[in-house]
Amino acid sequence: MIFRPHLRCAQILLATLLAAPAAAQAAAIVGEPQHVALPPPPAADARADFRRPDTITFPDDNLYTPAKARLGRMLFFDPRLSRANVQSCSSCHNPALGYGDGLSKGMGDGMHPLGRRSPTIVNAAWSDALMWDGRFDTLEAQALGPIQSPGEMNMALGAVVDRLGAVAEYRKLFEAAFPGQPMSGKTIGSAIATYERTIVSSPAPFDAWVDGDEAAVSDAAKRGFAVFTGKANCVACHSGWTFSDNGFHDVGLPDDDIARGKFFPQILKMQHAFKTPTLREINRRAPYMHDGSLPTLEAVVAHYDSGGVARASRSELVKPLGLTDTDKSDLVAFMQTLSSQMPPAAAPNLPR
Ligand code: HEC
Ligand code: HEC
Repeated sequence: MIFRPHLRCAQILLATLLAAPAAAQAAAIVGEPQHVALPPPPAADARADFRRPDTITFPDDNLYTPAKARLGRMLFFDPRLSRANVQSCSSCHNPALGYGDGLSKGMGDGMHPLGRRSPTIVNAAWSDALMWDGRFDTLEAQALGPIQSPGEMNMALGAVVDRLGAVAEYRKLFEAAFPGQPMSGKTIGSAIATYERTIVSSPAPFDAWVDGDEAAVSDAAKRGFAVFTGKANCVACHSGWTFSDNGFHDVGLPDDDIARGKFFPQILKMQHAFKTPTLREINRRAPYMHDGSLPTLEAVVAHYDSGGVARASRSELVKPLGLTDTDKSDLVAFMQTLSSQMPPAAAPNLPR
């Protein structure tokens, strides 16, 4: 490839230079039109790594049907799934708040705070490890967790089935979604999981840029993407179109929660290791992190720049980064391009 400085893709070439051999960098810095062979531009490739998929994958044992998704949506918004008839999944995974709750800790049965922040469920179809500590690996199994958890909706499954089974319209909806099967925890979980897989973030300005619209994001955001994929190496964990590797890492937050370490006490790097959250729709769900301890994206970037608590379990990738003020504001500008205009999600009319 011939390297020619070109105004419109200057910011992209910046990332090319970061990864280029020293000779090519020196040549570029001189500013003369040069004929220097360079590796393929990583920025263009890096963009492709984040391209939105065209399809949602549903598991073989719980394939999509409109009837299942419709029922699942009703169950997701229905407070009758909680003992006190006051709390639905959407109380803590509220569409108006990026499918989180805007609180630093979830608020469970009897308004008792939970130990961790309510994460978003947007793009959960692409997640094969659920919860901050990964204790569930399917949405089907996960959905039954909060219903029964004494701290959350606090309702035995048998009691949920009795309650919903007393509503004629629910009996019809279940029969349409699961013909010939009795109403049960399994059908409730399958319906909710099917609905959750349909909650996918809409295209954001970043996606238009990935597709080649150079005007879709600011120069600051383009530089921020170069920092994200280069100097700060955020991409080592926030990878793929959802910006999550679905892995677990200690990023040096100071609290005592050992998260994944509870299941792997012998593995040092799993102590204080939390699931990498998606960065899609990130603007909508401050405060950030498992403990809601960081109020803004600026605070998140400042945390990574400092490296956080230097303990043995902390990821090798998290360390003082030496970012400039411009790097930091560029990173924030970049992350802001990951939020879409999601269409408002209307709560359904519930069966009575
Ligand atoms: C009281 C608030 C609350 C309610 C009600 C609630 N959740 Fe959650 N949800 C949370 C919290 C807090 C977590 C993270 C807990 C943890 O990791 O230890 C979570 C995690 C999740 C996750 C994992 C997301 C991920 O990417 O790891 C899914 C999916 C989910 N909830 C779905 C549901 C469904 C479905 C319901 C209704 C049946 C529900 N939640 C009810 C607070 C709530
Ligand atoms: C070692 C893997 C790793 C690296 C590197 C990394 N992150 Fe993270 N990121 C995580 C994990 C894990 C969490 C959740 C940590 C927690 O809550 O304890 C997280 C949380 C976040 C959050 C909060 C998301 C939410 O919903 O609360 C943002 C924003 C974020 N990271 C941005 C970045 C940026 C910007 C960089 C680069 C400067 C970066 N991350 C580098 C793994 C990583």
